[in-house]
Amino acid sequence: MQASKSDFQSLIEQDRAARAKKAWRGTFLDYLELVKQNPRLADLAHQRMYRMIVEAGVSEIDVESDPRAKRLFGDQHVKVYNFFKDEFFGMERTLDKIVRYFHSAAMGGEEAPQVLYLMGPVGSGKSSLVERLKRGLEELDPIYVIEGSPNFCNPLCLIPRHLRPAFEEMLGVRIEGDIDPVTRWRLVNEYKGEYEKMPVVSMTFSVRGRRGIGVVPPVDPNNQDTSVLIGSEDISKLDRYSEGDPRVLELNGAFNVGNRGMVEFIEVFKNETEYLHTMITATQEKMVPAPGRHGTVYVDTVIVAHSNEAEWQKFKADHTNEAILDRIVVVKVPYNLRLSEEIKIYQKFLKRSRFDLKIAPHTLEIASMFAILTRLEPTGKCDLLTKLKIYNGEEVLEKGRPKKLTAHELREDAKREGLFGISTRFIMKALDVALTRNNGSIHPINVREALIGMVKEADFAEDVKKQYLEFLQDTLHKVYLELLEKDITKAFVYSFKDQAETLFQNYLDHAEAYVTRSKVKDPVTREEMHPDEGFLKSIEEQIAIIGPAADGFRQEVIAYLWSAMRRGETLSYTAYEPLKEAIEKKLMNSVRDISRIITKARTRNEEQRQKYDAMVENLLAQGYPEDSIDTILKYAANHLWKD
Ligand SMILES: Nc1ncnc2c1ncn2[C@@H]1O[C@H](COP(=O)(O)OP(=O)(O)OP(=O)(O)O)[C@@H](O)[C@H]1O
Ligand SMILES: [Mg+2]
Repeated sequence: MQASKSDFQSLIEQDRAARAKKAWRGTFLDYLELVKQNPRLADLAHQRMYRMIVEAGVSEIDVESDPRAKRLFGDQHVKVYNFFKDEFFGMERTLDKIVRYFHSAAMGGEEAPQVLYLMGPVGSGKSSLVERLKRGLEELDPIYVIEGSPNFCNPLCLIPRHLRPAFEEMLGVRIEGDIDPVTRWRLVNEYKGEYEKMPVVSMTFSVRGRRGIGVVPPVDPNNQDTSVLIGSEDISKLDRYSEGDPRVLELNGAFNVGNRGMVEFIEVFKNETEYLHTMITATQEKMVPAPGRHGTVYVDTVIVAHSNEAEWQKFKADHTNEAILDRIVVVKVPYNLRLSEEIKIYQKFLKRSRFDLKIAPHTLEIASMFAILTRLEPTGKCDLLTKLKIYNGEEVLEKGRPKKLTAHELREDAKREGLFGISTRFIMKALDVALTRNNGSIHPINVREALIGMVKEADFAEDVKKQYLEFLQDTLHKVYLELLEKDITKAFVYSFKDQAETLFQNYLDHAEAYVTRSKVKDPVTREEMHPDEGFLKSIEEQIAIIGPAADGFRQEVIAYLWSAMRRGETLSYTAYEPLKEAIEKKLMNSVRDISRIITKARTRNEEQRQKYDAMVENLLAQGYPEDSIDTILKYAANHLWKD
């Protein structure tokens, strides 16, 4: 459709009309009626924020019916907040703490007058979390402010102290706070104290408009001018007005504009301590000084600060900061350590890309695995790759049995996990490099290459660099080859899944007969025969179950089968992890020779060519982009089936 001038105009006008409809203006008396109808208009900043988050919807992860969730979270009640759900991944614990802070503060608990401080390594999502809160405020329905008030004063503050109990009773709300000096001057001089006549208007939050949201970047230490926080006096007006006249005030500091909403302190501990004291009085006494000799200004705002751990440690080490430390609620924002969620972070990132994206399977998986490996603390209980899998809720096998090691157990042992390692931004940069070099077509091979290049260039400590390169060049190289071989096998074995299911069913039939000492009926001839032990062994040996271990394994499989049947589940070959692994390996082995020959061959005869083409077709169907298949198969030929 061709947009014309009138289309543009009508869009603009519609928008303006819709906004005007939401805008409201009346006297304070009119406003009291609004509050009577909707007492939530009297919400203070923390209550508003808390409601904003929970009213978007909350659900709980069902750990009972989801085995993976059970492995991940055990018996914890883990909540999912819709407000954060689509943008933040693997942050359940952090989000839970943040919401708990708001809840307690909203209820007027101990935490109301405290700073919410997010501490975490670079690129862990601190700024994004604060951005989300700010955006949430901007999307809220308008709030109401005294018209002309420089700090968007809550109209209820107009009610004199002695009348507040009566009004609180009538309105069913709590009233606290004071009007700002400028409004006070106008009330006395323009309205002769008749506060019921003062105009009240609706206002939406806006970061750019500096309405209800104040942002404090780290200030140059040589120029710690508190006007950024509390505003200033307009010097040009000083000779026009007498001393102490609030009309000289420019109440445009972060605490003024952030009244009713929030104030964000970016890299907070880069600021001088003196500077931070304003922050503390703002939370503790709900007051900030007015510039010059104008007393104090009431402020009701959520203060969120953030910085990285190094700054935090430095600040904490200084004993003179104790008073401040006491008034800070620290919420750690570590890196995510769950593979499935890390992948989602990069999917979110790639959605914004302008490239025509062609992403081969496992690309983000391998990049994410690298990120997570660098973030894990070593443990004596398993290797890092196993730890990664356990943290991902996967069932990990040990000698053919599910390994009895829980994510919870591993987490208990770790001290600083998630606070170090490769940042999300590092990975995004590598993805960007690979995308640019390859015109939007990425696969594990070129992304890994980009990562290796970046690690080599980065100024990490030598031993760190060495370990990172080992992850990329060794650990993940092997992981990828395994994944790749599985994909190629699937592409070679005509209807891989059906064959796997058949093997699975056969295995169950024979294992059951073996365990119960009965016979197997041949499906075709109906002939009864002894369970085929050779067949059972051929599957079991794939996962190194041999000799006496086999009996136990078969019993476990059958116990599993029976309990699943009792639950009324239909079983697929993927149901029991050890068996799935064994069956896939068996299928892989059965075609390894032919895959090797056909993939490696430089020239193929007619029959081989057909097989090759069919395999490529299947890879395409698996989601491999056409232009990466060649590279990937060459890679497989060179590395997977080395002579
Ligand atoms: N767990 C996560 N879920 C979703 N996105 C994430 C997560 N962790 C990081 N990100 C993304 O990574 C990028 C970097 O995050 P952000 O800028 O918020 O980090 P930061 O903690 O403020 O870092 P810095 O300390 O360098 O300021 C953002 O695009 C963010 O959305
Ligand atoms: Mg940041």
